[in-house]
Amino acid sequence: MSRFGSEGEDIIGKWSEEKLDLLEKYLKAYSVIMNRQKETWLAAYYYIDAFAGSVRPKAKDDEQRYIEGSPLRALQTVPKFDGYWFIDVSPQRIERVQSLREEFPDSVIEIYPGNCNEVLVNEIIPKIPQSSKKRAFVFLDPYGLQVEWETIRALADTKACDIFINFSVMGVTRLLPKAQSPDPEVIDRLNKVMGNTDWINQIYREPASNQLSLFGQSEPTLSRETIQAEWLSLLYTKQLGNLFEYVSKPVLMRNSTNSVLYALCMASHNQTAIKITNDIFKRHEQLRES
Ligand SMILES: C[S@@+](CC[C@H](N)C(=O)[O-])C[C@H]1O[C@@H](n2cnc3c(N)ncnc32)[C@H](O)[C@@H]1O
Repeated sequence: MSRFGSEGEDIIGKWSEEKLDLLEKYLKAYSVIMNRQKETWLAAYYYIDAFAGSVRPKAKDDEQRYIEGSPLRALQTVPKFDGYWFIDVSPQRIERVQSLREEFPDSVIEIYPGNCNEVLVNEIIPKIPQSSKKRAFVFLDPYGLQVEWETIRALADTKACDIFINFSVMGVTRLLPKAQSPDPEVIDRLNKVMGNTDWINQIYREPASNQLSLFGQSEPTLSRETIQAEWLSLLYTKQLGNLFEYVSKPVLMRNSTNSVLYALCMASHNQTAIKITNDIFKRHEQLRES
């Protein structure tokens, strides 16, 4: 998890740097491909950062070291996007993002203060209907469970947006009590974020451990005790698959004690986007293991 430095900047762990490196790699590939499409059918393509953040967070292991946050990774991508649309709910963060206009005078930067769910649905999505021949890459990088399922649905319905989302697995597991099933308010909250809560009934049902199957073995049961971050990540990507044609495999982001914090994944209506993401993720995991 991140905390705040004295100037309001985020202090981030190694895994956040990994996430930013993966983002940067993808943006490079995306921008080259999209730029080429502009020679034929594409009118413009945009980078949308729904959780722009503090621009230059500091590294947890060395607070003298600044890291380039997602807006900088996007603004430095070559070829350039036709526009960079930054959203953040924090006025302090928005001030930092404003300063990028001076640093990147040749980039078209639009800044939207506010809750990204509202900004995306009311202000941004209406600018990129499919008929406009415009496309957008949307980075969704919340601290916790801030991205609403209806926002994802609205982005998917444009058929013009790819989303790269850092889903807070830990945000979900924290809401799941060990002993009894969650309160109705918690179920509502999870439904708002995941678009489905049937799985909750499944994990809190009575254990079927003493029921023998036809083959004489106990049915494998899914329970709160055995529920794994991997399972939740796959559940979320499966949900995304109901809205987007293609979804990448998730990469699990772990903290220094190896607990899963987030699952990073891409959802798109374009198969190539997913192929590129899976390739980048695969190389990343191979490097991690080596
Ligand atoms: C994890 S940080 C983003 C880091 C940034 N993407 C990066 O990689 O450099 C999350 C940011 O989301 C902002 N935020 C929190 N809730 C939000 C919401 N509902 N809408 C928009 N921004 C929000 C916070 O102010 C914070 O700056």
